[in-house]
Amino acid sequence: MVDRTTDTAVRIGVVGVGAIGRRHAQYCVDEPATTLIGIADPASEAGSLAHEFGVPHFRSLEDMLDAQRADGIIVAVPTPLHCKVALTAIRRGIAVLIEKPIAKHPAEATELIATANSTGAKILVGHHRRHNPIVREARDIVKSELGQLLAVNVLWAVLKPRSYFEPQWRRVAGAGPVLTNLVHDVDLLRFMCGEIVSVTAAARRSARRHEVEDTVAVLLDFESGALGTITGCDASPSPWSWDANSGENPNFPVSRENSYRFLGSDGSLEFPDLHVWKYRVDGEAGWTRPISREGRIVKAQDAYRRQLRHFCRVIKEHEEPLVSAEDARRSLQVTAAILRSAATGQSVSPAEIQGAA
Ligand SMILES: NC(=O)c1ccc[n+]([C@@H]2O[C@H](COP(=O)([O-])OP(=O)(O)OC[C@H]3O[C@@H](n4cnc5c(N)ncnc54)[C@H](O)[C@@H]3O)[C@@H](O)[C@H]2O)c1
Repeated sequence: MVDRTTDTAVRIGVVGVGAIGRRHAQYCVDEPATTLIGIADPASEAGSLAHEFGVPHFRSLEDMLDAQRADGIIVAVPTPLHCKVALTAIRRGIAVLIEKPIAKHPAEATELIATANSTGAKILVGHHRRHNPIVREARDIVKSELGQLLAVNVLWAVLKPRSYFEPQWRRVAGAGPVLTNLVHDVDLLRFMCGEIVSVTAAARRSARRHEVEDTVAVLLDFESGALGTITGCDASPSPWSWDANSGENPNFPVSRENSYRFLGSDGSLEFPDLHVWKYRVDGEAGWTRPISREGRIVKAQDAYRRQLRHFCRVIKEHEEPLVSAEDARRSLQVTAAILRSAATGQSVSPAEIQGAA
């Protein structure tokens, strides 16, 4: 049983130690509040990594849970396996931090929620950006300083190298930039601007001809009446993406550009630089007057580390998940709606999507 009253280190296992899982494992080793109890991954490199960390290596999560007592499990396997693997821990009543997107289909997310409700297991979903203090500051600015939010524009464009696509799962349905990358942007937009009630999208796969898209253009209708656009492309050299602009993940060299623009009736915000643009003039404001920029400074903090510490507090029942499974299901429904709209040419309401995308 997890000790909810003392400072005893929280026992965490990581399942799947590829690109992101190995980082989670490193955080668990570095963080004084956690003990890494093992790594579960059938790949042979996972054995070497476990050796490096001085923890046992298991070929499956079942084997790890049969051998070790765990307070929490971090699920970082390929997206199509999230549901099956997470259920292994949830059925035993063990808390899970599931990487984003919560699952491949909203129906799987529903199954995870129902099972967790019956066993009492906690689910936190790895939309780590929400743990970044600049996101919280931007959300405050959007809510209180821009007046009525009219529109938001997001650009996410990167060149993924050929080697990125070596794992087969990244080329077929269940991956792709909409589900793997833009789900982060969708989650941020929902967090900062409210619910999305309709999406209209077009997608292309003309750069690589993989089963999944490489380029997508999306029009969003927010419940508030605001409009949004997202342009996503993982086949273009560009400095404009959250990954490059936020400096959040050391794997991505920083470029000091902005990839989000929020447009309100009283001002606009560039993000992640947190530049607020407003007319600060006497008399009537308007496009013939000089507009000025004001910057905000927020102390950088590691969003992944904050997420892990929050997971520990969720396990100890000191906090409710900042990104619950229900919340993550809604973001997944939006990405499923984007893919459906791109396939049908029709506008799609995310709320309608309960089953497979
Ligand atoms: N939050 C983030 O910043 C972030 C970043 C990258 C990836 N992700 C998410 O993390 C997940 C993994 O992505 P990745 O890029 O690390 O994938 P990856 O292909 O690099 O690694 C996946 C690992 O899982 C292992 N694996 C496969 N089946 C398994 C099983 N049944 N049991 C245990 N291990 C198994 C593989 O051997 C591999 O080592 C995806 O859902 C992705 O969307 C999140």
